Amino acid sequence: MCGIVGYIGKDNAKDIIIDGLKKLEYRGYDSAGIAIVRDGKLEIKKHVGGIANLENLIGDDPMTSHIGIGHTRWATHGAPSDLNAHPHGSQDGKIAIIHNGIIENYHELKEELIREHNIKFKSETDSEVIAQLIGVIYQEKKDLLESVFAAVDRMRGAYAIVAIAEDEPDKIVAVRKDAPLIVGLGKGSNFVASDIPALLKYVKEIYLIENNETVLLTSEKVTIFDENREEINREVFHVTWDADAAEKEGYEHFMLKEIYEQPKGLSETLNRRLDENGKINLEGITLTKAEIEKFSKIYIVACGTAYHAGLVGKYIIEKLVRVPVEVDVASEFRYRDPLVDENTLFIAISQSGETLDTLAALREAKSKGARVLSVVNVVGSSVARESDDVFYTWAGPEIAVASTKAYTTQLMCMYMLALYMGLEKGTIDRDYYDQFIRDLQKMPEKLEEFLKKASQIEDEAKQLYNREQVFFIGRGLDSAVSYEGSLKLKEISYINSFAIAAGELKHGTIALMEPGTLVIALACQDFLYEKMVSNIQEIKARGAYVMAIAKDGNESIAKHSDKMIYIPECRDEITPLISVVPLQLFAYYVAKERGCNIDKPKNLAKSVTVE
Ligand code: F6R
Repeated sequence: MCGIVGYIGKDNAKDIIIDGLKKLEYRGYDSAGIAIVRDGKLEIKKHVGGIANLENLIGDDPMTSHIGIGHTRWATHGAPSDLNAHPHGSQDGKIAIIHNGIIENYHELKEELIREHNIKFKSETDSEVIAQLIGVIYQEKKDLLESVFAAVDRMRGAYAIVAIAEDEPDKIVAVRKDAPLIVGLGKGSNFVASDIPALLKYVKEIYLIENNETVLLTSEKVTIFDENREEINREVFHVTWDADAAEKEGYEHFMLKEIYEQPKGLSETLNRRLDENGKINLEGITLTKAEIEKFSKIYIVACGTAYHAGLVGKYIIEKLVRVPVEVDVASEFRYRDPLVDENTLFIAISQSGETLDTLAALREAKSKGARVLSVVNVVGSSVARESDDVFYTWAGPEIAVASTKAYTTQLMCMYMLALYMGLEKGTIDRDYYDQFIRDLQKMPEKLEEFLKKASQIEDEAKQLYNREQVFFIGRGLDSAVSYEGSLKLKEISYINSFAIAAGELKHGTIALMEPGTLVIALACQDFLYEKMVSNIQEIKARGAYVMAIAKDGNESIAKHSDKMIYIPECRDEITPLISVVPLQLFAYYVAKERGCNIDKPKNLAKSVTVE
């Protein structure tokens, strides 16, 4: 999820690139860099931190050049650092590249480059492999386009790559596979970028580059090649969006964009750790079978939405790994002298990896001898750095304050950890595991399908947006999801909402049910379905207005509810991956009707680094 920009033309490349990168900082912001060719020499400047740090590094240097490439990074391989920042250069200093994506076979390519070409790698990134590989090929071919073609033939993965060569300062070569890439068409200048916002100030005419296409840019001409390296024609796309809409890729708010990015986040989080036999590969995590067998207790500790992901984690780990799991909010855990020892696995969940309460709880657990594993979205963040092992979510940068795609990818990590530990420990067998993985693999597509129903939820929200309070109820995993649905609604719409396990209602809270009270009832667990129907009947008898969420086919519940939302059929354990989405959408559309500042709700911050 990095931002990339390249320029070739009559103006000074550095100024255009820095300006473009600033428009892309929302894609990633842990380090940035630029490469140009000045007076026949390739120069690279890069720095950890945002674009402002790069500007400080450049200072007054005009970096005069008509060609350049620039990058703002969202770390995947290797923590944010000066050396891991892009552009990466080849060993002979002749080639510079920027990259967005992942090179799956980087390890074998790296070994080969070290063994056969004596390459000394400077960074921990998969991206440097691209620079070194093109560099080695270029020594023979002396042609940037041919060298990129040859390098791409050796690479597996998802990428958008832009390359320049010291000896050919009149061309830029870019290639795309499963990562965004566009070309901007100027007059006597051409541009390449990951996203439209980077170029909007300069051009409105764009080529949208497709998968497996390569582009050769000079200042006068843009040539596109298909996967057979044949030249092709592309229709010009005229951009009519303004800069703000372009950043959100046409969505009205980042929150909505991020809700729609969930199928991709789920598929990335799952598939990046699955090998070709469907086996979970915990590369970078050193949990051994003996250690897994030794754990007598697991704590999952987090805050807010991440804590709610932990509630699902508890359920699934206890079921599959048969070990007691306690879930706690971080601000409570650290002050209650928790029972932690060297047989404890402590799992911290955090999108930002900078939440102070979570970090403090982690330190507390570590000091008592626990093994610390974190589930984190931001590579190289404090929680990640201080953990023994890190299981990264692949949600990409989350901009909206209300967390959505981080939550569902955190859930995916919980399922994968539970399956991995269960199989190692022998508490589940291979058939069960394989079927579970197959079911998880179907979820991105099912979610994609479900998102087509968003307009139904928008209609419900338009009718219900002016309620003063809302209750969320469910049983088992549905109860865990209710908490998240309730938090989403209150934080962005400021409605007083409350979540409770449905079976617990009758022990007090049912006193609040009155004619018209809005209750959102989740009934997505087949084995608890009948019990939920009874709970719904109890509140209907008090006049509540019930919007129920159930799996396709469970239609009998409709008789007892005022509104129904159906989610696709899937195994009970993984329904939270979808059942939370109508709740996210409901919160979003209610907040929109109420005219709230959806991406930046009052009193809240994206990363809470105070106690
Ligand atoms: C709610 C939300 C917060 C965060 C919480 C933890 O939408 O975003 O509740 O989940 O502040 O933040 P991280 O996950 O960054 O530790």
